[in-house]
Amino acid sequence: MKKIAVCGKGGSGKSTLVALLARTLHDRGTRVLVVDSDESNPGLYRVLGFDRRPQPLLDLVGGKKQVFPTFSGESASPESLLARDAFSVADLPGGYVVENDGIRMVSVGKILQSLEGCACPMGVLSREFLKRISLQPDERIIVDTEAGIEHFGRGVEASIDSVLIVVEPSFDSLELAHTINALAGEVGVERVWAVLNKIGSAELASSLTERLETSGISVIGAVGYEPEIFQASLEGRPVRREALETDVEGIFARLQ
Ligand SMILES: Nc1ncnc2c1ncn2[C@@H]1O[C@H](COP(=O)(O)OP(=O)(O)OP(=O)(O)O)[C@@H](O)[C@H]1O
Ligand SMILES: [Mg+2]
Repeated sequence: MKKIAVCGKGGSGKSTLVALLARTLHDRGTRVLVVDSDESNPGLYRVLGFDRRPQPLLDLVGGKKQVFPTFSGESASPESLLARDAFSVADLPGGYVVENDGIRMVSVGKILQSLEGCACPMGVLSREFLKRISLQPDERIIVDTEAGIEHFGRGVEASIDSVLIVVEPSFDSLELAHTINALAGEVGVERVWAVLNKIGSAELASSLTERLETSGISVIGAVGYEPEIFQASLEGRPVRREALETDVEGIFARLQ
C-alpha cells in the first residue's frame, strides 16, 4: 500500500490508530506523510506530538470558493501548486507541512465558522490532493478521515489504494465496517483491512474477528482498551506506542 485511508465510526479510534501506524511505519524506515482530512476535529497534530498545526491546504488554493475553479481549470490562479497534474511532498511550501520526529503532516482545512457553507470543497480538495501527489518509493501517505462515509460520497477513496477500518465493539461500528467495505469495493480500492480497537478480552476479539471475516473483511489485529491512551487524549498529549500492551508492530506487519 502507498496511500491508506483510516476510516470508521466516530470515536472508534481512527486518529489514535493513524498515530500508531505512522510511528510504526516510520520506525520501519518509511517516510510518512499524515493527511488530516477531518474537517471537524482539530486535535490530530497533538495526537502526533506536533506543537502546532500546519497551515491548511485550503489556503494554498485561495480558500474554499477557489477549490472548484482550481480543479476545473478556471482558477484565477492557475499557477497553484495543487492544480498541477503531479507534485511531490517536497514541493509543498514550508508552513503547510509540519514535521516531528521524522513524521510529516498536512491538513486539508477545518470548518471554523457557522453558516460558512458545506464541507464539499474540502472533500474535493482531499481527493485532488491525494490523486496528484506523487510519492517516492520509500514514502507512504496515511489519511485520517472524517467519521462515517461522507468522504466516499465525495470520491476521496478514488485517490487511494488501501483502507483500514477501525472497529470498536458496538453494533453501529460493525455495521459501518460492512458498509465501508462495500463502498471501498465499488470504488476499486485494492485492499481493505479492519483493526479492532478498545477490545477487552481475547474472546471478544475472536468473536468480532469471526463476524467480520465471515463477510470477507480481513482483520489484522486487535488493540486493547488502554487507559493511558484515553488519558493522553484527555490531556492533549501524543499517543505513545510504548504505553500499549498490544504488539502494534505485529498488527501492522500485515499491511503490505
Ligand atoms: N485503545 C484505546 N484505549 C483507550 N482509549 C482509546 C483507545 N483508542 C481510542 N481511545 C480513546 O477514544 C477516544 C476517541 O479516539 P480517537 O480520537 O482516536 O477516535 P476517532 O475515531 O479519531 O474520533 P473522531 O471520529 O471524533 O475523529 C479518545 O478519547 C481516545 O483516547
Ligand atoms: Mg479523529
